[in-house]
Amino acid sequence: MASVLIVDFGSQTTQLIARRVREAGVFCEMISCAKAEKKLQDMRPNAIILSGGPASLSAEESPRPAESIWEQGVPVLGICYGMQSMVEKCGGRVLPHDKREFGHREIDISNENPLFKGMNAKQNVWMSHGDQVSEISDQFEVLAQSETCPVVAVKHREKPWYGVQFHPEVVHTQEGKALLANFLFNVADLPSDWRMDSFCDQQIAAIREQVGSQKVLLGLSGGVDSSVAAALIHKAIGDQLVCVYVDHGLQRAGETEGVKKLFGDAFKMDLRVVHAQDRFLAALSGVTDPEKKRKIIGHTFIEVFDEESFKIRDVDFLAQGTLYPDVIESESFSGAPTAVIKSHHNVGGLPEEMKLKLIEPLRELFKDEVRVLGRELNLPSNVVDRQPFPGPGLAVRILGEITQERLEKVRAADAIVREEIDAGLSSGAIEDELWQWFAALLPVKSVGVVGDARIYADTIAVRAVMSTDGMTADWPWLPKEVLGRISNRIINEVKGVARVVYDISSKPPATIEWE
Ligand code: XMP
Repeated sequence: MASVLIVDFGSQTTQLIARRVREAGVFCEMISCAKAEKKLQDMRPNAIILSGGPASLSAEESPRPAESIWEQGVPVLGICYGMQSMVEKCGGRVLPHDKREFGHREIDISNENPLFKGMNAKQNVWMSHGDQVSEISDQFEVLAQSETCPVVAVKHREKPWYGVQFHPEVVHTQEGKALLANFLFNVADLPSDWRMDSFCDQQIAAIREQVGSQKVLLGLSGGVDSSVAAALIHKAIGDQLVCVYVDHGLQRAGETEGVKKLFGDAFKMDLRVVHAQDRFLAALSGVTDPEKKRKIIGHTFIEVFDEESFKIRDVDFLAQGTLYPDVIESESFSGAPTAVIKSHHNVGGLPEEMKLKLIEPLRELFKDEVRVLGRELNLPSNVVDRQPFPGPGLAVRILGEITQERLEKVRAADAIVREEIDAGLSSGAIEDELWQWFAALLPVKSVGVVGDARIYADTIAVRAVMSTDGMTADWPWLPKEVLGRISNRIINEVKGVARVVYDISSKPPATIEWE
């Protein structure tokens, strides 16, 4: 299988380059520029892409591409900082420009070449840079320029090395996808051979080989990642897989029953359901601080999971639904810790003495690739296409104290929001690309009138967001009829709610979840 290595200089959009390359059907991996040397030896990629980055080549200690990149004899595409470092390496000059160029620019392609094959001579691209190439050596020729930037794209005269100052990976670059495809297929002449059915077969063979006749334990949450991991491993080793599902009582309506029905009954997996609702509620009693709630849930989860795992004899492997973005994030470009906005939690932390080896069959995949794999494994669309749901569950959608009564209130309201928005989506009344839609229970009471009586009761917030990755999000103008039905039904059907509000905050600055 052909492969591309993306060397990351810390750009915000490096992951997007990887997405685009995979979408074109070519396998790729990303590596921080500091670790590229070793990775090149192990991987032997068929082409290399150098990402953009926040540094300036004129700054002290700014990173440079590893020397061995230039010795691989494979095509290289430098993007933004990547292009600047390529030009500098060959004797050109890069200088800070008096104006930072950020946003749309029209460029002129002045030179016929494989990178711009089939494209318009004038096109709109997305720029984001402070420095720019001021001089190239005679090893390079200029392929494109703009009014403010004389060197927008370059090609080495002898080697298959190209550079672009703009960002082809972002959607704002009109023909960005086509440019990356040209690099992969016209310049590097790679086959488009990254397919989910062959990935699935490869992984099944690899899991069988790794596991042999031993047993694998998997924490099944019912979310997309653990569900797909379970289906894949089960297909590989059948009953040697034991799944543990912790019912912490913070799930949405119908969740536990759904997991039992699908994995226990339909897939006939060895599924152990641990009923721990009371234990979680007791641990959360009286706690209102969001971070404390998350920590308590994380710890209790690990305790319960560990106790159950300990009861299962002879387990050798722990399976996790770790995805590629988790792997990349834990190897950040700078190595600098990022600010903790919310402590996320996933399964982990088994006792040391269990000495389990890890299996992470999804660690090379992005989320949408996991969904494709799930379909390949015959998982139904209500599992594969489900909206993301936080590990701490409804607890982060109850502001203030978590009690059984408040849990039931938010669960009932959430079911209504989901039913009505799902109906709107399937009837075409809602056209937006929604990412999540749910209810949150606020710690605010207000006055209402029911019949002739005055009530003083709770408030439900309806949250719906459009997003492509959960990192940024915007709220949609839901049709008035849909919002009206949601409000009407919640106030009529959920006892103790007097008011429904619609959350119109984007992320940033607001987060998607309320806590
Ligand atoms: P925020 O609220 O930070 O959420 O804007 C971004 C995305 O992450 C989900 N989320 C979590 N997922 N464990 C998870 O696995 C967690 O603790 C967690 N907290 C938030 C959230 O639903 C959204 O999709």
